[in-house]
Amino acid sequence: NWTMANFIETEIKRIRTLVGPSAEVIGAVSGGVDSTVGAKIMKEAIGDRFHAIYVDNGLMRKNETVQVKKTLDEGLGINLTVVDASNQFLDKLKGVTDPEKKRKIIGNTFIHVFEKVASEIKPKDGSQIEYLLQGTLYPDVIESISFKGPSQTIKTHHNVGGLLEDMKLKLIEPLRELFKDEVRDLGKLMGIPEDLVWRHPFPGPGLGIRVLGEVTPEQVKIAREADYIFIEEIRKAGLYRNISQAFAALLPVKSVGVMGDQRTYEQVIALRAIETTDFMTADWYVFDAKFLKNVASRIVNEVDGVARVTYDITSKPPATVEWE
Ligand code: XMP
Repeated sequence: NWTMANFIETEIKRIRTLVGPSAEVIGAVSGGVDSTVGAKIMKEAIGDRFHAIYVDNGLMRKNETVQVKKTLDEGLGINLTVVDASNQFLDKLKGVTDPEKKRKIIGNTFIHVFEKVASEIKPKDGSQIEYLLQGTLYPDVIESISFKGPSQTIKTHHNVGGLLEDMKLKLIEPLRELFKDEVRDLGKLMGIPEDLVWRHPFPGPGLGIRVLGEVTPEQVKIAREADYIFIEEIRKAGLYRNISQAFAALLPVKSVGVMGDQRTYEQVIALRAIETTDFMTADWYVFDAKFLKNVASRIVNEVDGVARVTYDITSKPPATVEWE
């Protein structure tokens, strides 16, 4: 009979047989639930012959890189390499405002950085990196077989498909039979911290698509600080798990305000929070007015460069979850 405990055992055996006694596996980890659970299974199956790579693209949220390192490396004992490639990503993004161009640049730079780091990993004598771990879930499998979901065709999603061709790696997908809630159960069973198991999804291009228009370090900082406050308040109010995804986007618009007796002329933050089961359609989340009032006032007071906060009340469709 099918139980999660059986699944883990069977999957670990399957991976051991597949990879054999000496081959090595690499995989990109983001700190999200899918890549972390995937990495944990690999670790259980083949120990340090699995190499996890985390690329800091300079577009991560506040404290995210430190947190990921703590959880995966120190907490779960995963063989993790952290690369700070922030400058590389931010250099390439200079002057670019088109959302699709930004996505492509971020995706390609990711592949480039990942390949370089992977080529520097030197497995033990005689062994070779032969496999790439990918955290594909069952819905992704169906989607790619039967139809292209809206997010796939409307936006170029960042993925590591290009790596397979370039590096001649074979794919290993331990989660390909599972739905998201099963991955969460699996994560819990394997000792992955609750906070991580329930983390909202975060897009591969990160804050790069939440800073509308040109992505500069200054703009990223504003979006990052505002996002941090919003999520902190959501957690404090005990709403994190009622919401499927929430974030702050920084609009490339200036607006007039008043602080004390001074006229201000600064940018606008748009808050977005949604409820959804599949991310193909979504409803905006209905907060108490008091909650929104508090978040808006904290953001304008605490984040330099913001004069106004708005709340996005558009469903998907017609709007997508992300602003770009
Ligand atoms: P959209 O904006 O297409 O988003 O309605 C649906 C879900 O997908 C996430 N998303 C991405 N995830 N790479 C990802 O890994 C991407 O390029 C990307 N773009 C959007 C989005 O955050 C939401 O959860």
